Amino acid sequence: MSSTLEDTSTLRQRQAQFTKELHGEDIGAKSGFAAFISKNKSAQKEAVAKYLKHWDGKTDQEAEKRRLEDYNEGTHSYYNVVTDFYEYGWGSSFHFCRFYKGENFYAAVARHELYLAYKSNIQEGDLVLDVGCGVGGPAREIARFTGAHVIGLNNNDYQVAKANWNAKKYRLEDQLEFVKGDFMQMEFQDATFDKVYAIEATCHAPKLEGVYSEIYRVLKPGGTFAVYEWVMTDKYDESNPEHRRIAYEIEVGDGIPKMFTADVARNALKSVGFEVQLADDLADNNDEIPWYYPLTGDWKYIQTLSDLATFFRTSYFGRKFTTFMVWLMELVGIAPKGSTQVTNALEEAAVGLVAGGRAKLFTPMMLFVATKPQKKK
Ligand SMILES: C[S@@+](CC[C@H](N)C(=O)[O-])C[C@H]1O[C@@H](n2cnc3c(N)ncnc32)[C@H](O)[C@@H]1O
Repeated sequence: MSSTLEDTSTLRQRQAQFTKELHGEDIGAKSGFAAFISKNKSAQKEAVAKYLKHWDGKTDQEAEKRRLEDYNEGTHSYYNVVTDFYEYGWGSSFHFCRFYKGENFYAAVARHELYLAYKSNIQEGDLVLDVGCGVGGPAREIARFTGAHVIGLNNNDYQVAKANWNAKKYRLEDQLEFVKGDFMQMEFQDATFDKVYAIEATCHAPKLEGVYSEIYRVLKPGGTFAVYEWVMTDKYDESNPEHRRIAYEIEVGDGIPKMFTADVARNALKSVGFEVQLADDLADNNDEIPWYYPLTGDWKYIQTLSDLATFFRTSYFGRKFTTFMVWLMELVGIAPKGSTQVTNALEEAAVGLVAGGRAKLFTPMMLFVATKPQKKK
């Protein structure tokens, strides 16, 4: 066994063991608030420290290099500490979406997922890979709608366990399977999948060519890959300190080693062999209701009464309220140490995402649809 493989398997074992210590054995049975207050407190402290060690305000090349090298542990730790907050605020699909007038929040989230399934031409019976699958919300929606078999890949053990638990709960275990793995070095055989999709996940890669080349390898010739990529737009100028600050806020609060531009992503797809069929920034549509509205305090955008609670939790005031409650719970010892630091980092992310969205410097929905040619050129 090569030393890299040994390192990988040691890392996996350590992460799996740590997940048990942190979240307990009954993962999945609890979510949101209940899961949050029942963590092992000293393991949570360690998880927070592991996550925050790279987010020290430094944007110089040395700091960036360290974050990129430690992408696996960095992201694993990030999702260990934020998953409960995401589920509480957003539900079981961890992504943004467009909103139609009169449309309820969860309907819009589902439509965004089904649009990607439609664009990737997923058919009944297809074997599909969901790269960076979160707790499985999108895979459940897509599997139900299309009749495809979806395998979700994720490097966070806590989320994998939750996704499998939910697949059983919703009686979808015949169509769904969630496995632990790093998308930079997948363990699937070449040409395994009919279709591959990724929703707001591949931005965690230290190098886009790395994850795209793995996707290309495991996709069958003639197969389609569709992705909602988080990228900085062509308006972004890295040498502009204000732009860099916004990008850094997004990186810090979302556990991303480095934000890349849309051009970098498109070139990476081409360089690994894909034929790019479509490149469409869905955030650049002058929609009446902007994609980032749930993170703002703009009540005017709420479309249905049923969205009030979701909006309150994710809006500026709702987040301040959550941060205060978390601080209070941490003070009296109900919440694990470091929880407030996590909510502060998430707050920084929200500020950066809204600023980036408003200035159109950032998009969470750069849609690329790419195909693997039947024959190598
Ligand atoms: C913002 S969440 C999106 C989750 C899911 N696609 C959704 O829309 O609900 C990003 C996901 O990417 C996963 N991820 C990050 N880095 C990864 C890696 N190196 N290998 C596999 N999954 C990874 C995270 O664990 C997380 O589940």
